[in-house]
Amino acid sequence: MKLIRSESPRNRKFWRSNLTRLQGLFSAQGKGKTQTQIKAEPSVEQKAPVNHLAIIMDGNGRWATRRHLPRALGHKAGVEALKRVVECARDEHIPMLTVYVFSTENWNRPRTEVDGLMRLLWETLRLELARLHKEGVRLRHLGRLANLPPDVQRAINDSVELTKNNTVIDVNLCFNYGGRAELVDAVLQIVADGRDPDCINEDLISSYLYTRDLPDPEMVIRTAGEMRVSNFLLWQSAYSEYYATSTLWPDFGREDLLAALEDFQKRQRRFGGLSAS
Ligand code: FPP
Repeated sequence: MKLIRSESPRNRKFWRSNLTRLQGLFSAQGKGKTQTQIKAEPSVEQKAPVNHLAIIMDGNGRWATRRHLPRALGHKAGVEALKRVVECARDEHIPMLTVYVFSTENWNRPRTEVDGLMRLLWETLRLELARLHKEGVRLRHLGRLANLPPDVQRAINDSVELTKNNTVIDVNLCFNYGGRAELVDAVLQIVADGRDPDCINEDLISSYLYTRDLPDPEMVIRTAGEMRVSNFLLWQSAYSEYYATSTLWPDFGREDLLAALEDFQKRQRRFGGLSAS
């Protein structure tokens, strides 16, 4: 893929050697590795805890257009917002964050934007991995890996591998993710495994999703004022609390996250049943 300059052997070598260096650095520290201390008390008292927060990060393009900037700079500002939110989620003792970075439908955008987003993920992982690892972030990828550019696949695989034992906060990157594609992939695998129709139930289907072993999100936040699900965590968000804000993603910060968490505390979750009172 021509816009991913990381395709070149030189860049590949750069990524590889840095990863090796990082692995050496951190494994040398072994068990004594200090991961970032979590803030003792969160700002929002979570009587109903948010163990898994999912976010549809929307509005990068509008943020850029309003400033007469290219859309690519909106996505770049989106990375900065994501860094802030990971930090804030950690401070609020949220153990898992899932973010929608690139959907299976985003391939329909202009080629330059698609290539830019591929490159942005590659670059972000390359530039931020050491810090994320040091801070105890465990990265996961949710989505179809196989049809991503090879260097992006490698960057994702290496990041997931390096951070797999971290425990401070899990950050799941939905990249080339679609809720429908996820269900199709699950069904194909169930068929390929020759599963007996008698044993097909919700637990079995869940165990074939990209999110197998992960809890469903208690809350899904969508920024930029849209009221759509956009093919995000269709199965997993069956009973998630939705929270929409008009804030554009690059402007989203600590105050916005705290407002969403406070709002969640007011929700009555009944899961199709009746409230206790
Ligand atoms: C939707 O806004 C956003 C995206 C399709 C890209 C999401 C990417 C980020 C938030 C940056 C984080 C990236 C990495 C690599 C970790 P939009 O472009 O559809 O905005 P618009 O609706 O205003 O046009």
